[in-house]
Amino acid sequence: MTPPIRSPLDRIELRREEFESLRDMFAERLGLALPPDARTSIERRLQDRLIHHGHGSFSEYAQFLRFSGAAVDEWEELQDVLTVHETYFWRDEAQLRSVRDEVLPLLAAQGQGRRRLTIWSAGCATGEEVYTLAILVHESGLFRDWFVRIYGSDVSRRCISVARKGVYGAPSFRAIPQDIRKQYFHERADGAHVAERIRAYCSFGQVNLAQPDKIRLVGRQDAIMCRNVLIYFDAGTRRLVTDGFLDRLNAGGILLLGHSESLAHVSTAFELLPLKGDLVYRKPLGSFRSSPEFLKPT
Ligand SMILES: C[S@@+](CC[C@H](N)C(=O)[O-])C[C@H]1O[C@@H](n2cnc3c(N)ncnc32)[C@H](O)[C@@H]1O
Repeated sequence: MTPPIRSPLDRIELRREEFESLRDMFAERLGLALPPDARTSIERRLQDRLIHHGHGSFSEYAQFLRFSGAAVDEWEELQDVLTVHETYFWRDEAQLRSVRDEVLPLLAAQGQGRRRLTIWSAGCATGEEVYTLAILVHESGLFRDWFVRIYGSDVSRRCISVARKGVYGAPSFRAIPQDIRKQYFHERADGAHVAERIRAYCSFGQVNLAQPDKIRLVGRQDAIMCRNVLIYFDAGTRRLVTDGFLDRLNAGGILLLGHSESLAHVSTAFELLPLKGDLVYRKPLGSFRSSPEFLKPT
């Protein structure tokens, strides 16, 4: 049945108690922390979802989410609608300089025996961060003849499908140096394609970071980059996710967060490693431990 055409004046109101109930449900199911002033933006963002399912009120929609077996796909849609997927190549150039000049040489020294480099971009959205890392690794020349794997994950299936294609439009290139763009992308009618020699380092998967059993399926990593993702989570979920990162990192492995993010009040298991151009976290050398919390069955 085609839903009736609605005018903007038909806006369905999200009442305070409905917002609070939805907010609690999103925190419980998705680990999302919505601030109290998010009511208007949630009301706006979810209008289309209610119309799509033919619900006349947010209470009806909440009932559907809570009790209907058919709501499984809707939860996935919701996660997509409630988070921002903004990203681009060469985001936060200062941090990338640190990765190039200090983190990669450190990982090359630490991994000399194994000649294996694994990096995970957790919450990579449409993949630009993953290809940026792959280009930096390639350009460094430090890992020739090594096994190199850059793994990108996101909760959004739509984002992961874009990442796998590796074809991008102008907004993704707002910060990338022109010579890098020329060297590692092929311009075609449908967009700029990531060069095959860079794609060859990269793989992608759908992972909900709020689910510890999903994190456990990701392999051991020498470094994890998780930028502009933890900001969406409540304190408990942040703790759970960073415990998961600790578990997945090799001893001496590096955790890179976004420039406004920190582990203050989240985890004391990492040590701070002050670099010349950035502050990163490191799983202590000689540490084989995982957080006991993380090892608890879920
Ligand atoms: C703002 S983007 C950050 C992209 C990239 N890391 C960057 O900084 O450019 C945030 C991403 O986090 C993802 N995200 C939000 N909640 C998540 C969860 N529970 N598990 C995995 N990814 C999640 C969103 O889907 C979104 O693509």
